[in-house]
Amino acid sequence: MKKVQAVAPGKIILFGEHAVVYRRPAIAIPVNDVFAQATLETTEGERGLRIMAPDLDQDYLLAEAPLDDPLATVVRLTLAHLGRSEPVSATLSLKSTIPLGRGLGSGAAISTVIVRVLGDFFGQVLASAQVSTLVYEVEKLYHGTPSGIDNTVIAFNQPVYFIKEHPIERLQVTQPLTLVIGDTGIISPTHKVVGDLRRRWQTDPSRYESYFDEIREIVRQARHIIEHGPDVMGTLGKLMNNNQEILAALGVSSPELELLIEVARHAGALGAKLSGAGWGGNMIALTRPEQAPLVAQALQAAEAVKVIITELPASPVGEKRD
Ligand code: MEV
Repeated sequence: MKKVQAVAPGKIILFGEHAVVYRRPAIAIPVNDVFAQATLETTEGERGLRIMAPDLDQDYLLAEAPLDDPLATVVRLTLAHLGRSEPVSATLSLKSTIPLGRGLGSGAAISTVIVRVLGDFFGQVLASAQVSTLVYEVEKLYHGTPSGIDNTVIAFNQPVYFIKEHPIERLQVTQPLTLVIGDTGIISPTHKVVGDLRRRWQTDPSRYESYFDEIREIVRQARHIIEHGPDVMGTLGKLMNNNQEILAALGVSSPELELLIEVARHAGALGAKLSGAGWGGNMIALTRPEQAPLVAQALQAAEAVKVIITELPASPVGEKRD
């Protein structure tokens, strides 16, 4: 009998969503308060690999899954990468506490745990970079033109300063940051929002390029402040508000997001913005630690369907990385 497990976090984008698709930098951090989990164990009586994902109401054999089935696609790609055929008799169980379609990286996290658990099962432990590359292949199938930021931050489980197709740059966090994440409850498929923005960009490239350039400046400043200070909280809050203004001009905000953002600011957040693709999904607010419960309560009162208080810890000095 063999049993292996893998866990991967959710993620939020602090700065730079959408512009990152157009090769500007973005900053994203893992959120370990929500996670995806895979268990792969040999089982007697199965014919081949059984995939069970009760949260998604899925239970089927790999061999019988349609070619475009998303979970089976990750399994098939990974097996091909490992040079293996499916286990003779095993069950892959998938669970996730990351809400679907809300900008928290649910798809990339599920793909990450599938890749990791299959690698471990066959005794081929994959480096984070390999996991990220494989998950990116899957993201490309389902999201059209993904930047690669979701797979990177989730596979590495590290805060990142990310530029499409550039080597990963980990962010050095000098001061812990408290963030409150508020969910509008509206499912917003990333590829639709990204595709819609692309059509607008095609009709007026220079206007949108200059928005993306403005976002690039915000992201660069945010990186500098996070890594060196001073006045990390105050300055970052303002930069979040500036980033939100441009996201609204890009047409990716929504009345529901604007309401939660306004409520968070009113309750004492230093800054707030949408996070991820927009139109729905989640917003994030930066707060002083003592203010976070008040901001969370205000978001709940404004009917956010889920509120998470999370902390981005300071980076350990001299940390070991793969
Ligand atoms: C999605 O988490 C972030 C977007 O910038 C899309 C992408 O980077 O692929 C909207």
